[in-house]
Amino acid sequence: MLKVDLKYAFNTGDVDVLSEWLEPLKKAHQSLINKSGKGAEFLGWYDLPKRIQSEVKSINQVAETIIQKADVFLVIGIGGSYLGAKAVIEALKPYFNHQEKEIIFVGHHISAAYIQELKTYLMDKKFAINVISKSGTTTEPAIAFRVFKALLETQIGKDEAKQLIVATTDEKRGALKQLADQEGYQTFVIPDDVGGRYSVFTAVGLLPIALAGIDIEAFLSGAEKAFVMYQNQSLSNPVYQYVAMRNIHYAQGKKIEMLIGYEPKLHYVSEWWKQLFGESEGKDHKGLFVGSANFTTDLHSLGQYIQDGQRVLFETVLNIETPLDDFNIPYDEDNLDGLNFLTKTSVDTINKQAMLGTLMAHQDGLAPSIVLHLNRLDAEHLGHLLYFFELSCALSGYLIDVNPFDQPGVEAYKKNMFALLEKPGFELETQTLKKRLK
Ligand code: PA5
Repeated sequence: MLKVDLKYAFNTGDVDVLSEWLEPLKKAHQSLINKSGKGAEFLGWYDLPKRIQSEVKSINQVAETIIQKADVFLVIGIGGSYLGAKAVIEALKPYFNHQEKEIIFVGHHISAAYIQELKTYLMDKKFAINVISKSGTTTEPAIAFRVFKALLETQIGKDEAKQLIVATTDEKRGALKQLADQEGYQTFVIPDDVGGRYSVFTAVGLLPIALAGIDIEAFLSGAEKAFVMYQNQSLSNPVYQYVAMRNIHYAQGKKIEMLIGYEPKLHYVSEWWKQLFGESEGKDHKGLFVGSANFTTDLHSLGQYIQDGQRVLFETVLNIETPLDDFNIPYDEDNLDGLNFLTKTSVDTINKQAMLGTLMAHQDGLAPSIVLHLNRLDAEHLGHLLYFFELSCALSGYLIDVNPFDQPGVEAYKKNMFALLEKPGFELETQTLKKRLK
């Protein structure tokens, strides 16, 4: 299903290079299993694809009811409460969607223009809301929910609106939970032991994915197969190969890992991946900085830097082996563009040759690549891939001795924002920051 190819990595695919990482990897893996490592209270994601099966029926039922009643589904959330669903939906839905049902994400930034334009767009549409927030207090989704809850209530009345709002939040705590109880919304629970960026296999990801008409059972089955396969504690485990190689690059002084896709549908998988690794490893002044690019598009921009700039980065390249679609280059009588030599060649073949050529060029330019070959891009394979990355990220975090499950650094901007907005309780910080602004 997924293969790790180290041929274009700095040290080639020599297993000996990896072997010194085996014991540390086994130790890290064991501490996940024994729940003895850092952040052990957030390990609910580890065997989640298996445990969550019991919730699938009710998630599908709620999705079906909403699909009957609305044409547009607003998914309100930010960070881990948004990126997983966005990644899966963007990867699996058609590029040009002429279906009448539509998923729109909001609450993942604070753009007044976006919110106002969305309000206008929804004016004459039947819409439903899935508001997702584990803490229930995050500013961005709270603003969006306040606006669109009011719009829905104005459109169809408070009682009807209640039928079209689903809250995904903490089981007991938080403002959203309180509001949902008070208003009688249907709710789904984000388990205490699953952090935002590891929550794609909970209702956080599954309900929006089901609303998009994607088979969540296939998605979970891919993840469950990955969970079983990656129990293997040897260097034949693709997770071990990937984690060892990225840490070899890190130990050799690389500072940046870029996730590269040759299929634009993977753009948000990269965004999800960046949150997963960036928030998990970037702490205590450690960790690789994670970036991403879509090739061949970005070969015409960032490609210059990757080939020729500072030698601080390596790439992890996602190769979808079986194309989603393909066709041959059409013949043209005049051949003014000189493409007739390709009339027996398919577009995907050209894309694959572009990938191979780039891998070799970047290897020559001392920008090595780890290649991940995924058979195809469907719900099952995507579930497998996302679980592969979750496990890789946890093990990798343990290898550099950070807690891969907290995000203390995210609080700093929030504190300043609240202080600048003069939120009650932040009086001292307000004074300090206002002095700095003078
Ligand atoms: O990974 C994380 O924990 C964060 O990105 C959160 O998901 C994000 O900040 C949103 O938090 P919440 O779901 O509490 O609104």
